[in-house]
Amino acid sequence: MKIAVIGTGYVGLVTGACLAEIGHDVICTDNDAEKIRILEAGGLPIYEPGLEKVISRARQQGRLRFCANPADAVAAGDAIFICVGTPPLPNGDADLSAIDHVARLIATEARSPKLVVEKSTVPARTGQELKRALSVYARNSQVAFHVASNPEFLREGTAVADFLHPNRIVVGVDDEIAERQLREIYRPVLDRAFQCPVHAPACPEGPAPAWLVTTINSAELIKHASNSFLALKISYANMVADLAERLGADIQEVVRAMGLDPRIGSSFLSAGLGFGGFCLPKDLQAFVHLAERSGVDFSMLREAEKINRRRIDHFCGKLREALWVVRGKQIGVLGLAFKPNTDDIRFAPAIDLIHRLIEEGARVRAYDPEAMDRARAVLPHIEYATSAYDAAQGSEALLIATEWDQFRSLDWPRVHQAMARPLILDGRNLLSPAEMKRHGFEYRSLGRPD
Ligand code: UGA
Repeated sequence: MKIAVIGTGYVGLVTGACLAEIGHDVICTDNDAEKIRILEAGGLPIYEPGLEKVISRARQQGRLRFCANPADAVAAGDAIFICVGTPPLPNGDADLSAIDHVARLIATEARSPKLVVEKSTVPARTGQELKRALSVYARNSQVAFHVASNPEFLREGTAVADFLHPNRIVVGVDDEIAERQLREIYRPVLDRAFQCPVHAPACPEGPAPAWLVTTINSAELIKHASNSFLALKISYANMVADLAERLGADIQEVVRAMGLDPRIGSSFLSAGLGFGGFCLPKDLQAFVHLAERSGVDFSMLREAEKINRRRIDHFCGKLREALWVVRGKQIGVLGLAFKPNTDDIRFAPAIDLIHRLIEEGARVRAYDPEAMDRARAVLPHIEYATSAYDAAQGSEALLIATEWDQFRSLDWPRVHQAMARPLILDGRNLLSPAEMKRHGFEYRSLGRPD
């Protein structure tokens, strides 16, 4: 099929590239002309494992194009995927102005029937508003629009594999034509009829994805309810971690056993500095607002949010306890991205943590394998190290803020020697307390005996 993707952020770029990978003819557009220029020149505006390979292959085969003029993309696509941002407004609601803008664009530029697919994360009932907007903005045109919601469940860092090997594909539709077209679009994924360019372990074998046809409202709700539930799970684990600390239990032993109960499941139970990124925090807020506006008291979500905000306080308290005075001391920070395998620092706990350290008068020396360029824009006055060892050099404490794999197996005697004081505070419970003790470190983590 001929598909247009509007918005080339994480979601749009992965969606466009993977739709081309499975055989469609895709054109991606963005109102950020610089982004399009980079993509046309063969570059990538983001770091996402496997994506470069998929994009270059699709472009070589002539199935993926980028264009700066959104009208050209609308004209070219029979199906149009809306992948624009829905950032939080100051009150926490999702800002839907970009969706409205795209609706106007599609309505005024379309000359043939279009399937308009809402991929951006939006509050329930947005699809109904989108339909209304399309018909209002296209009131002088005879073009037929079919609207669908097709929420994405892509995780940054494994987004390509998540797209090509999903466990479910949710399509919210009001009519059979939309459903039929979406099934056609996803047929290769449903039938596993493509050669996966990203190899194991990012590319699991297993059952074919579930094809779930729902109403548009339900599809939108599924997305917000899923992300909010993941956030709840993390905050729950973090509270249990606080309790484990007080009681002398070990959170990792606790969640391991809990997770073996299939009703609970083991993922998203890792205690630490809390959840960040551009999805969980903003979706949780938007969901709370949606509930409030709908007259439903969903205060447990507010609590999850509050617990998450307190993680940095808790961690800084531990640092203060260990260092006594923080002011004037050099602190090394390992990790800036909101999670490993991405360069994304939006709402990253590491960034909040560094702001706090600066407020308390510390000198910060940070290192991240991928996110330093982005961090420089928001934290221009800290020192950036060339490696984890360089971050440790002369530091009186080394904080682990993101669980990059490379931080698991550092040359610990070398780190020990580099530090002014061999103190490690592990905000992601990445390391083994026994091993750190063996290497002579004073080691503290979250929810585990020090
Ligand atoms: C999340 C969802 O996992 C995806 O399913 C969804 O499609 C995506 O949002 C989205 O809405 O676009 P992502 O933001 O990439 O994906 O990140 P996650 O893997 O969910 O991690 C979010 C945060 O939670 C990270 O800061 C991570 O460090 C933290 N986390 C995760 C924990 O603190 N503990 C855990 O056990 C798991």
